[in-house]
Amino acid sequence: MFNNRVKIKQLLAQEPKEQEVTVMGWIKSFRNNQFIALNDGSTNANIQVVAALGKFEESLLKRFTISAALKVKGIVVPSQGKGQKLELKATEIEVLGDSDAEKYPLQPKKHSMEFLREIAHLRFRTNTFGAVFRIRHSLAFAVHKFFNEKGFVYLHTPIITASDAEGAGEMFRVTTLPFDNPPRNDKGDTDFKEDFFGKSTNLTVSGQLEGELGATALGDIYTFGPTFRAENSNTPRHLAEFWMIEPEMAFYDLEDNMNLAEEFIKYLIKYVFEHNREDLDFLAQRLAEEEKQLPQDKRSEMGLIEKLDFVLNNSFERITYTEAIEILLQSNPYKKKKFQYEVKWGIDMQSEHERYLVEKHFKKPVIVTNYPAAIKAFYMRQNDDGKTVAAMDILAPGIGEIVGGSQREERLDRLEARMKEMHVPAEELYWYLDTRRYGTVPHSGFGLGFERMVQFVTGMSNIRDVIPFPRTPKNAEF
Ligand code: 4AD
Ligand code: MG
Repeated sequence: MFNNRVKIKQLLAQEPKEQEVTVMGWIKSFRNNQFIALNDGSTNANIQVVAALGKFEESLLKRFTISAALKVKGIVVPSQGKGQKLELKATEIEVLGDSDAEKYPLQPKKHSMEFLREIAHLRFRTNTFGAVFRIRHSLAFAVHKFFNEKGFVYLHTPIITASDAEGAGEMFRVTTLPFDNPPRNDKGDTDFKEDFFGKSTNLTVSGQLEGELGATALGDIYTFGPTFRAENSNTPRHLAEFWMIEPEMAFYDLEDNMNLAEEFIKYLIKYVFEHNREDLDFLAQRLAEEEKQLPQDKRSEMGLIEKLDFVLNNSFERITYTEAIEILLQSNPYKKKKFQYEVKWGIDMQSEHERYLVEKHFKKPVIVTNYPAAIKAFYMRQNDDGKTVAAMDILAPGIGEIVGGSQREERLDRLEARMKEMHVPAEELYWYLDTRRYGTVPHSGFGLGFERMVQFVTGMSNIRDVIPFPRTPKNAEF
């Protein structure tokens, strides 16, 4: 048996009682020819390993370079130095893997996020990414915990799909046909009958439509999986491959839907507060330093911890789209022509508008409801005014849209009429319409962009820094 190690996180929580333990990890630093800071990824904190002077061969000490991997057996003793309660007095040290300090790309200095993205295969070894990915894990775990406690069924919806009915964004095509010379039909078009699935298929943009099939039998379901959008959006909030959580609930109206979404977001934040406090504190500190570089008017009013605490302890503001437009039309930036994009009833609000509402006007998360039907998907429930639908988006400070959802149109005739208007092919979606034919019920759901949630909690300013290997236009490295 090789793995007899104790994780450094657990070890640091113990009392030093001269117990013998084995740790394994990577060297962060080696100083005075005897003090090794060793890290194993279980926490950002390092264990100080003391290789007493004279006890180990000079040839071994030479191999204690940054990022070399070690197995250390030793005795846990109270630390003489400051900054740590205990240290490990090494009795045996084995180098599991050498690391050439001259060539190692991560030098012990501050690297830019852009540089670290280029070496994303190694960036897990930095304190920042250690903290981010432990928090990402906690959030994913908390997602399942939340829904499990509420009796939701985790439904795996397909990743390859033939439906493009959602209209959420451009799709990536999935095919096994030779792209240089695909089979053609009589009209000269690509003949997808010859393709693997016998029809044209894509990577999913959302599991919602299949989710509704589950909800209208199982009651409450949620999906949590990768989704793909081939939009050419080079922004700090868009990925071509991102993870989404899509709960779908039978017997929920729009208000029930909003209540669940708000409770869910708060639950996730609370979970991270309770389980990742050290990592959060580290990222809060990091963000505070990053903000010092910004001009005064670009800095956030609250620190990360303060912001999360505030969100936890205050209700989200709830306004209609029509009210949101009113507020924008009364705003200073509108009057001073500071908005780049037009403001009038009917627009799809741009990031600058959303940020004004959330960051300047309300200074807290805002749920906007009842959007114009024309800018929303066909499946959203039509309101009695004949202009709006029972949609809701949640906008978060620093992020913008973090959740998009709606009550679904459960009335077959209304749904069919809307599909016709929007040129959504009813024949292809017969399976979706069957839920409205056989025991239709009011139901609702929403999608939370997982990376945007991780961004919100960690304070990372670019979405590419909260997913291990970001896929964006012109970038699919690793
Ligand atoms: O608003 P969207 O497009 O909604 C849907 O897909 C619905 N089917 C959800 C539902 O009702 N079940 O996307 C939902 C959320 C957005 O609010 C945003 O947080 C995130 O997914 N999102 C993205 N995140 C990263 N990169 C992208 N390109 C994203 N597009 C959407
Ligand atoms: Mg949306």
